Amino acid sequence: MSVSTCEKVRFDNLTGHTIGKYRVGNFLAQGGGGCVYRLERLEGGNVGGGEVVKAFDLPALSLHRVSAEGQYIQSLVGVRGVVRCRSFGEYQGIGYQILEKMPGANLLHIARAFFRAKRGFTHAEALSIFLETCCIMSGIEQQRDSLYPDGKYHGDIKLSNLHLFDDGLTLFDFYVAANRYFFQPELTVGTNATMAPETFFNPYAHSVRSDIYSAGAMLYILLTGKMPFPRERSLPDFLEYRQWAPFPMEGFPPFLFDLYSRVVSIKPEQRWPYFATVVDETERIMRLNGLTLVPMHEVFSTFLLMQISADTTSCLDESD
Ligand SMILES: Nc1ncnc2c1ncn2[C@@H]1O[C@H](COP(=O)(O)OP(=O)(O)O)[C@@H](O)[C@H]1O
Ligand SMILES: [Mg+2]
Repeated sequence: MSVSTCEKVRFDNLTGHTIGKYRVGNFLAQGGGGCVYRLERLEGGNVGGGEVVKAFDLPALSLHRVSAEGQYIQSLVGVRGVVRCRSFGEYQGIGYQILEKMPGANLLHIARAFFRAKRGFTHAEALSIFLETCCIMSGIEQQRDSLYPDGKYHGDIKLSNLHLFDDGLTLFDFYVAANRYFFQPELTVGTNATMAPETFFNPYAHSVRSDIYSAGAMLYILLTGKMPFPRERSLPDFLEYRQWAPFPMEGFPPFLFDLYSRVVSIKPEQRWPYFATVVDETERIMRLNGLTLVPMHEVFSTFLLMQISADTTSCLDESD
């Protein structure tokens, strides 16, 4: 398909365009700030799982911000479980990042399927997903990089910013973290539902401990199938919940409640200081309580089996 160069290129209608050595293929997903498309290499065929392009409307989002996130992700190259960014830049008024295509499916999508099937996650599964996320964060924390000396974090840890596949989880969407290092004056915060209270009141107060809180909020969702708060949190909610921490988690064994209350403590200093500590503590608690680690490929195959049985019950009707 040839594309007229006279038409204004739109970030939400990019199929058929050529960006460098890639041809933009089908639309894949819509995020809050950009659209994700498949890519085909014009020469040399696709390498590995291939690549996608995430396209952003400029100047709604500045090129500086798109590049900052690309640069931030590239600085994490070598950390296991972090999406890879091949390049970033501007194409005819559109900001773009070329990312390695993550295999598997979005963890939010997977979690919805588990709860829709009235199965949910076992304690061991929920803790294993939480642990895997904390291991990725611990890898980021431990990476030595003089560019960002004052600690590293993600800024918006939640189910929809993780992909699950056979070989584990992949973390992406480092928008807030990039902002932190490149955009001090216009820092945008994360997601109200999973955000640490100190971040709501002051985005600059965000630290590794705030990411630990968000990972805890994610653990709550995995264990209960409910959002940690009854509705979208607003300023009054934050003021109210600041008084009573943690949010209720009835019916859970005390060891689970203890771990959970610690990671979602309202006061950041009462949470553990590093993801490495959360990893050690979670492993210890699982061991002491006879919970065996569930490998991510098992969670993923349960999801696939659920998809297959949902398809068969809903779509096939071969009665004759
Ligand atoms: N590299 C990738 N490979 C495959 N799918 C991706 C990739 N990056 C993003 N996606 C999909 O696109 C959706 C939006 O991406 P995300 O980066 O979270 O955007 P936003 O910043 O708008 O939240 C995600 O839910 C994810 O499933
Ligand atoms: Mg996202």
